[in-house]
Amino acid sequence: MIKEISAAVTLILTLTFCSGIVVAEDLAEAILTPYRQKEIVPVENKQYKDECGSCHFAYQPGLLPTKSWEKLLTAEALKKHFGENAELDADTLKVIHDYAIANAADKSYHKRSRKISVATENMEAPLRVTEVRYIKRKHHEIPEKMIKGNKDVKSLSYCDACHTQANKGVFDEDTVKIPNYPNWDD
Ligand code: HEC
Ligand code: HEC
Repeated sequence: MIKEISAAVTLILTLTFCSGIVVAEDLAEAILTPYRQKEIVPVENKQYKDECGSCHFAYQPGLLPTKSWEKLLTAEALKKHFGENAELDADTLKVIHDYAIANAADKSYHKRSRKISVATENMEAPLRVTEVRYIKRKHHEIPEKMIKGNKDVKSLSYCDACHTQANKGVFDEDTVKIPNYPNWDD
C-alpha cells in the first residue's frame, strides 16, 4: 500500500516538476516522512502468533522481506525447519503464508522494517533474521559470553530473551535487558 502511494507521489512530482526521477524521489521521501512509523508492526494474526510462537518468539513478518517468507513458508520447507518439523495443515499454512507476505519488511513503512528491507535488497533471501546485515551490525559489539555463553539467552535468535518488549515489536535500546548482565552497557 505504502509502496503504491510512494510510487504515485513520485510520479506526480516527476510530472509536476519535470526535474528528474531522483529529485522527485527525495521529495516523496520528505512528504511521506510524517507517515512513517517507529519500530515494527506487532503480530496481529492469532494463527500466526499461536503456530509460530510455540517453539520460539513469534518473529514479526516485518523482520524479513517477502522473498524470505516465500522460502520459509512452504509445506516442504516447514518439514525441515531448522532441524525441526514445523508442518502445518494446508489451510493454516495458507493463512500464515499470506499474512507474512502481506506484512513483510518490504511492504512496511515502519523504521526497522525499512532498514531490513534495504539491507536485504541485493542479497539472496536470508532464512534468518540474524543473517540480516542491519541486525548483525546492531549486535556485533555484544560479547559472546553474554549470548552463547549465557544460559538464559543461548543464541541471538531468541530476541525476547533480551528485548523485553519484543512481542510489541519494540526493539529500542531502552527496553533491552541482558539476563545475568544487568550492567551490560557500562
Ligand atoms: C517445532 C518448533 C518450531 C515451530 C513450530 C516453528 N519454529 Fe521457527 N525455528 C525453530 C528452531 C529450532 C529454529 C532455530 C533456532 C536456533 O537457531 O536457535 C527456528 C528458527 C526460525 C527463524 C530464524 C530465526 C533467526 O533469525 O535465527 C525464523 C524466521 C522462524 N523460525 C520462523 C518461524 C515461523 C514463521 C513459524 C510458523 C510457521 C515457525 N518458525 C515455527 C523451531 C520452530
Ligand atoms: C543477548 C541479548 C540480545 C538478543 C538475544 C537480541 N538482541 Fe537486539 N539488541 C541487544 C542490545 C544490547 C542492543 C543494543 C546495542 C547497542 O546499541 O549497543 C540491541 C539492539 C537491537 C536493535 C537496534 C535498536 C536501536 O535502538 O538501534 C534491533 C533492531 C534489535 N536489537 C533487534 C533484535 C532482534 C530482531 C533480535 C532477534 C533476532 C535480537 N535483537 C536479539 C541485545 C539483544
